[in-house]
Amino acid sequence: MSVQMEDTVDAVLDAVASATPDIRGGLVGRRSYQDTENESGERQLAADVYADRLLEERLGAIDGVAEYASEEREGVVDVGEGDADVDGALAVAVDPLDGSSNLKSNNAMGTILAVYDASIPARGRDLVASAFVLYGPITTMTVARDGEVVEYEVVDGDRRVRDADVTIPDDPVVYGFGGRVPDWHDDFEAYVREIEQELKLRYGGAMIADVNQVVEYGGVFAYPSLESAPDGKLRLQFEGNPIGHIVETAGGASSDGTRSLLDVEPDGDVHQRVPLHVGNEALIDRLEAALD
Ligand code: F6P
Ligand code: MG
Repeated sequence: MSVQMEDTVDAVLDAVASATPDIRGGLVGRRSYQDTENESGERQLAADVYADRLLEERLGAIDGVAEYASEEREGVVDVGEGDADVDGALAVAVDPLDGSSNLKSNNAMGTILAVYDASIPARGRDLVASAFVLYGPITTMTVARDGEVVEYEVVDGDRRVRDADVTIPDDPVVYGFGGRVPDWHDDFEAYVREIEQELKLRYGGAMIADVNQVVEYGGVFAYPSLESAPDGKLRLQFEGNPIGHIVETAGGASSDGTRSLLDVEPDGDVHQRVPLHVGNEALIDRLEAALD
């Protein structure tokens, strides 16, 4: 990566960290649903729209950021002079509030960031950095970049390293799978029946919080293909690519059922969905064998 691109990534990560007190603080009073839906047909909370606007403003103002895309808006916004495809400028994609349906019940949520050296929709292999913020009892930010994953605690918008080399533990402990059980395909259900004999169920309904448990304790998280939704629920640009990148960089594996999430070809739709499975490599290998 060029020095200029490294500087842009630094600025993007700083901007996301410094936006976290505003995003977190802005949740109070924004817990109600609006009359609008996002591009994936999900009802939007006032907080979703607020966090999206805030991030567009802050990330779009950074020199070297050419494109901004978000789960909460239809198209890609051209925010800079450059072109993410040709001249070293970067494109950012965010899920401003992942798991925002948890806001009503005051459970954990996150923000997801993908930084691509390519125009959006981009391939996971074009990521130069990815990160997620977890709004739990404390705010943490987990960043994958240059082959390493670092976890920070974020206080007043400043990052302090908590773990300079995040690695998924070898002995897995937890699992969490989305979707209603009757909606699962039979082969996936057979895999789950094995896993639940071995690991402990942890599912909270916000992907970031559920994935972070897998990163911390080892295990497997999936939002699989469903009978009613063959591509699952989660979105490639905003969720599948960055989460696959973080988990793989932390020594784990990701899969859409047959290949790494980072090898899934974008189909041109910014809001393309993808079945998502991440966790310890052995568990993802078994999953791919089970779905074969
Ligand atoms: O972004 C979509 C999302 O909120 C994820 O964070 C989460 O994994 C999933 O939806 C939860 O879906 P469900 O309500 O079907 O469990
Ligand atoms: Mg989400």
